[in-house]
Amino acid sequence: MNIRELLNQKVLNAMATVGVPADLPALIAPGKKSGFGDYQANCAMGAAKAMGTNPRELAAKIVAALDLAGIAEKVEIAGPGFINIDLKPEWLGEQIAKAQSDARLQVEQVSNPQNVVIDYSGPNLAKEMHVGHLRSTIIGDSLARLLEFQGHNVIRQNHVGDWGTQFGMLIAELEEQLGAKGDEAMALKDLEVFYQQAKKHFDDDEAFANKAREYVVRLQSGDAQMLKLWEQFKTISLHHSTEIYQQLNVTLKDTDVRGESFYNNDLAPVVKELQDQGLAVESDGAQVVFLQELADKEGNPSPMIIQKQGGGFLYATTDLAALRYRVNTLKANRIMYFIDARQSLHMQQVFTLSRKAKFVDESVSLEHLAFGTMMGSDGKPFKTRTGGTVKLAELLTEAVERAGALVSEKNPDLSADEIAEISRKVGIGSVKYADLCKTRTNDYIFSWESMLSFEGNTAPYLQYAYTRVQSIFRKAGVTPESFTNAIIIGTEQEKTLAIKLLQFSEVLDQVAREAMPHLLCTYLYEIASLYMTFYEACPILKDGIAPEIRDSRLRLCHLVAKTIEQGLDLLGIEVMERM
Ligand code: ARG
Repeated sequence: MNIRELLNQKVLNAMATVGVPADLPALIAPGKKSGFGDYQANCAMGAAKAMGTNPRELAAKIVAALDLAGIAEKVEIAGPGFINIDLKPEWLGEQIAKAQSDARLQVEQVSNPQNVVIDYSGPNLAKEMHVGHLRSTIIGDSLARLLEFQGHNVIRQNHVGDWGTQFGMLIAELEEQLGAKGDEAMALKDLEVFYQQAKKHFDDDEAFANKAREYVVRLQSGDAQMLKLWEQFKTISLHHSTEIYQQLNVTLKDTDVRGESFYNNDLAPVVKELQDQGLAVESDGAQVVFLQELADKEGNPSPMIIQKQGGGFLYATTDLAALRYRVNTLKANRIMYFIDARQSLHMQQVFTLSRKAKFVDESVSLEHLAFGTMMGSDGKPFKTRTGGTVKLAELLTEAVERAGALVSEKNPDLSADEIAEISRKVGIGSVKYADLCKTRTNDYIFSWESMLSFEGNTAPYLQYAYTRVQSIFRKAGVTPESFTNAIIIGTEQEKTLAIKLLQFSEVLDQVAREAMPHLLCTYLYEIASLYMTFYEACPILKDGIAPEIRDSRLRLCHLVAKTIEQGLDLLGIEVMERM
């Protein structure tokens, strides 16, 4: 139980004792500034209103009934009826000791694990992964790691675009190039170039275009030769994505791929079911659902096409089928979609219709966790200098190179191997952190300078804070892993740091609830900053420091390092021993 939960329970007990109705909340929060207490209960004003009494008097009664023996050293009423709680340093020391000697840092496993389906990354296999897929991939992965750490059963689903008309063109091109070169890996070495060749071929050569059209039809009717070419194409294209996932330290595996094609056989039944329910109607030869729930200002319902004139199915049809699979087969309790904000209407339609058609009942939480666009320094969507899409592979290579230059400049004594490893962790970490630390729903400007800075809320700053702690242990010649000495919270800096460290699980709960990784970034940045302040004010290895103070501070440092390491790991970012 974290501090907030503990205080919450204690204050609720006191409220019950003095007759406050049971449904009123205790409203516990960390004190915002000094003079607010370490924690503050904000319950008395609301309760007094509900009970028709004076808030300060009620607060005084609650405080009198409040049993915080051994936990708080001071409980005070402030302002109109706030209850300020100052925690006892001895108690804080005991909590820190428990966290420091626990591999999970006192983060409990959830008591009610859910089946959480996380839909993320989802590149289109016709093309190479580009920066547009970066945000979904890293934000989704961070939530997958975090929910798994909390003890949920996370089911990753990589909804790749592996179906659609352009595959006729692509496999026709593959067939021709294979005839000429005989090596599919060679032909598809650069998917981007391959796609352009196919497209040009399609535009310039009428016979080829006809063949491509014929191939789609054959592919869709299950022709073995076409399927074989398509499989070849998919395998290689997926391989490109897998390489990026490894480079990015993203946990998606090949077995998490559940692409659009997986649902092919379910599409006709979805349409039939919607027709049977009277939800889908014919309109200009297409099958359309008109959603009054999403009507525009004039009251016109929002049209959702689920089958084209001529029989083709759509992106939306596939998403409806995927939802049914996730609920019926994967038994999802919560489904999280990390998809660009520009697909909001699509997601709203899919969610609204699946509820309406009873594909999904109310107990299942459906969440479109939209994110904004990554912008270039010109404030327009991030592009290459010539206006092309930026390939993810190239962006990551550049990140590692830039980090390498910084690292070797900062620490010329490192070996080439060390530099290579550190630059990989710093470079990739910087790109990921720069994205994760921004409020998910906003657009943000991509900037090499700020993401690679050793100052401020960046990956290098946190990685550096971690290495600083490690260097203290090297200097002291100890690993505080097995220390059992008492933790003495003697100074203001130690107290502030200790309280912040003990909020780790509260922060994780909030990130898990809101799917907002930036809250974890902010928290880790605060830890690192408070650590620096503590380090300035509280000498550790200096001559004349009493051994029990020294060992206590070493344990505190150790918990700082473990928290940063664990927190960064949940963001998919690695630490290093030195940099
Ligand atoms: N392939 C899609 C795109 O690139 C993303 C897939 C997202 N997932 C989903 N279930 N629609 O836009």
